[in-house]
Amino acid sequence: MAIFSNFAVLSVLVVLASFTAPSAANFYRDAEITWGDGRANILDGGRGLSLSLDQYSGSGFQSKNEYLFGRFDVQLKLVPGNSAGTVTTFFLSSQGEGHDEIDFEFLGNSSGEPYTVHTNVYAQGKGNKEQQFHLWFDPTAAFHTYSIVWNPQRIIFLVDNSPMRVFHNHESLGVPFPKNQPMRVHCSLWNADDWATQGGRVKTDWSKAPFVAYYRNFKIDGCAVGTSSCGSRSWQNQELDGKGRNRMRWVQQKHMVYNYCADVQRFPQGTSVECRRSRF
Ligand SMILES: *[C@@H]1O[C@H](CO)[C@@H](O)[C@H](O)[C@H]1NC(C)=O
Repeated sequence: MAIFSNFAVLSVLVVLASFTAPSAANFYRDAEITWGDGRANILDGGRGLSLSLDQYSGSGFQSKNEYLFGRFDVQLKLVPGNSAGTVTTFFLSSQGEGHDEIDFEFLGNSSGEPYTVHTNVYAQGKGNKEQQFHLWFDPTAAFHTYSIVWNPQRIIFLVDNSPMRVFHNHESLGVPFPKNQPMRVHCSLWNADDWATQGGRVKTDWSKAPFVAYYRNFKIDGCAVGTSSCGSRSWQNQELDGKGRNRMRWVQQKHMVYNYCADVQRFPQGTSVECRRSRF
C-alpha cells in the first residue's frame, strides 16, 4: 500500500513537472558532465550545477546539443576568497581543426583583488581578439547572468543584460567571422596558474582547495543542429539600441582593462582592420 501511494504521488509530481516546466533551464535535460570524475554535480533537481577543482583535477560540462546561432545564458557564482590561479569558463566552441570559439573566462585573483573577465573570439582557428574587464560588483557574492548572443551579423557579450562587447561581422573587410560551424556550450573550472593571475606570478593556493563555482539557469534559445528548433529567434537580428550603446560605452570606459585594438606593442604592424571601423 505504501509503495503504491508513493508511486501515485511520484506520478502526480512527474506529470506536474512536465506541465509546469517544459522550457525551464535544466542541466539534466540540456547538459552533460564531460570531465572531473565526480567533481561536477547537478543540484536542485537540475536547476543548479557545481564545478570543483582540487590539486588533481578540475571539472566541466557541455551542452548536449550543438547550435548554429542563438542566445546562451547562464548564471554564475564564482570561487570566493583566494581564487588566484583558477579559471572558470563559459564558452561556445566548434570541434576539430580551424575551430570557432566565443569565450567568457573568469580569471581568479588573490583575496580582495578583482577577477578579470577575459573575452575572445576565434574564427577558423584564429583568435587574437581579446578584451578584458573588471566587474562593477563582486561576482563571488551572488549569482549574476552572463550571456552570449550570436547571430550572423554580430556577437554580443552581456553581463546582467549590460552589453560589455560587440564583435561585428567584418567579413567584407576580410576578417573571418564564426558562422558556418555549429558550436556547443562548454563550462569548466580548471587550474591555469602558469598564466591566469597577474601574468602567472600568483599561484594557486592548494591549501584552500577544493575551489567551487556554481552555475544555474542554464538557458539556450538557439538553432539546435539535427532538430528543426530555433527557439524564439528573438536573437536573430539583435543589435544594440541607443540605450545599449550608452551602457556599453560606460562599461568599456570604466571597466575595460585590456583591448587588443589598443595594443600596438603586440601588433607593431598595426592592429586588425576591424579596430579602425566602429567602436561598437
Ligand atoms: C588581479 O588584481 C590585480 C591587482 O588589482 C589586477 O591588476 C589584475 O587585473 C587582477 N586580475 C588578474 C586575473 O590578475
